[in-house]
Amino acid sequence: MHFFIMHTILITGGAGFIGSHLTRLFVTKYPHYKIVNLDALTYAGNLANLKDIESASNYHFIKGDITDTELLQQLFTQHRFTAVLHCAAESHVDRSITDPLAFVRTNVVGTSSLLLAAREFWKADFTDKLFYHISTDEVYGSLGETGYFYETTPYDPRSPYSASKASSDHFVRAFYHTYGLPVKISNCSNNYGPFHFPEKLIPLSINNIIHNKPLPIYGKGENIRDWLYVEDHARAIDVIFHNGKIGETYNIGGHNEWKNIDLIKELCKQMDSKLNRAPGTSEKLISFVKDRAGHDMRYAIDASKLKTELGWEPSLQFEEGLSKTIDWYLNNKEWLNNVVSGNYAKYYEDQYVKR
Ligand code: NAD
Ligand code: DAU
Repeated sequence: MHFFIMHTILITGGAGFIGSHLTRLFVTKYPHYKIVNLDALTYAGNLANLKDIESASNYHFIKGDITDTELLQQLFTQHRFTAVLHCAAESHVDRSITDPLAFVRTNVVGTSSLLLAAREFWKADFTDKLFYHISTDEVYGSLGETGYFYETTPYDPRSPYSASKASSDHFVRAFYHTYGLPVKISNCSNNYGPFHFPEKLIPLSINNIIHNKPLPIYGKGENIRDWLYVEDHARAIDVIFHNGKIGETYNIGGHNEWKNIDLIKELCKQMDSKLNRAPGTSEKLISFVKDRAGHDMRYAIDASKLKTELGWEPSLQFEEGLSKTIDWYLNNKEWLNNVVSGNYAKYYEDQYVKR
């Protein structure tokens, strides 16, 4: 994949959290690329995430579903895509526990439909084509106190979400081995940053601290996640897209492990200071609730392949990234309030209040 190629890229799920950062990066950094964002605008998709680039001349939005095979065929024919950056997914573990089939539909059937469309349209000549699949570290399962996830770690998904993502990864590799479709996969750890939907731990907690609501911590809060600032993830995808090897998998992670309870305490400390509240005020909101079913204990990525082969490293220390993130939410309360209303209000009630 060379920078001088005049790519026409289909980004799926570009109105979501990671997709919007990725779309912004590609639209602004590569003005000679044409970017088409296909997004079904589910509860997690929000065009407000892309307001600053919506009128860019190299950007085009299409509302549509990745399981709609006729639409995919029509779009490939019309736009003659040279690459796909596949971000669209059902992404929240808790929702996958209550509605697994929605995850099979989008993550497995949707990914397979996209693969079929790409193969069909590109099969005469795969030169300079790329299907890039964005995946997660959760496919590797759950770690104990030590060790890391490597690209070679056997898959061991344990939630309906991670099972559906693992399945989609397998389909991507199957299309590479069976049909020769040029693919790349990256598996990333937990992201955080602006435009993160407030059903996930960090934005949910920021929103609840603002409104003096309880901070629900599953179990004892001892589960560990490896956090990466979302713009660093988008930068890694850019590097892999252009310089990674076809058929390869790259792990992306922050080398930044936090126990949930320690993370929330750091968040409370920073928010007390930013909101001019007495130290310790927000920590009083911490509320231990029923654990997530099958809650994975620890994720930790070894991203040394990406560093050694392609020179990528995270740019931000966590405390700094968290501070930037909190500032963004405090300065974008209208975005937050709009997102928290409607469908999400009902989900929140079902998840936390009716238990
Ligand atoms: P998100 O839930 O914020 O966004 C998903 C987007 O996909 C939304 O805009 C939604 O409208 C769209 N979408 C959902 N179903 C669709 C369908 N059937 N057709 C078209 N569009 C559809 O998700 P995210 O957190 O930005 O995650 C993006 C990708 O990155 C996912 O594949 C996820 O598995 C992966 N990932 C996420 C994280 C993380 O921490 N958030 C970490 C590693 C990998
Ligand atoms: O590791 C990558 C994955 O990270 C992505 O593939 C997923 O799309 C993304 O949602 C994220 O999954 P997690 O389940 O790790 O993220 P979540 O923010 O839902 O939870 C983070 C941790 O916090 C986890 O241990 C569960 C816990 N938690 C979460 C919520 C929502 C709580 O204790 N309370 C909560 O209310």
